[in-house]
Amino acid sequence: MLMPQPLLLCRPLFLSCLIISHLLYTTWADVGIAGRYGPPYLPTACYGGDSSEFPTNNMFAAVGDGLWDNSASCGRQYLVRCISATAGFCTPGRTIQVKIVDHASASSATIVLSLTAFTTITNSTSSFINIEFQQNLWNQINFLQVDGCQALISFPGSILSSVLRF
Ligand SMILES: *[C@@H]1O[C@H](CO)[C@@H](O)[C@H](O)[C@H]1NC(C)=O
Repeated sequence: MLMPQPLLLCRPLFLSCLIISHLLYTTWADVGIAGRYGPPYLPTACYGGDSSEFPTNNMFAAVGDGLWDNSASCGRQYLVRCISATAGFCTPGRTIQVKIVDHASASSATIVLSLTAFTTITNSTSSFINIEFQQNLWNQINFLQVDGCQALISFPGSILSSVLRF
């Protein structure tokens, strides 16, 4: 009997896609509100006047009181995706990783994204969007770009990056 080839090829991919997106989005993800902020980004509550702590791709954020954790949040990496927006739309299937560099003590948002980070996941002209987020606990992996079931990853301190298909 002939098995349809595409099905054989697709099924494991589809399954691992489901498992990873489950890990990424369902198991530990929380729901919150993301705001946005613009320059000047210095000084920061985490690193003072040191601009070398900003990721070169400008994907960084400040956390509100809930995630601040008495500054223990500095340097943590969060995966963030937009789940709904007013005055605009979420970028479909797009998840970003941001590094925490500051404390947004006066903000009612869970996390306040750099302009680059905010405009990557939404084209909303509003100051706030609804997000799903979780800490990236795999410190050895940086998620540079996650689109649906495909991620561009790199390892800290490495210039090499590769594409991971879930
Ligand atoms: C946002 O993107 C959507 C879909 O691409 C588009 O229809 C809409 O006009 C854009 N809105 C703004 C505020 O740019």
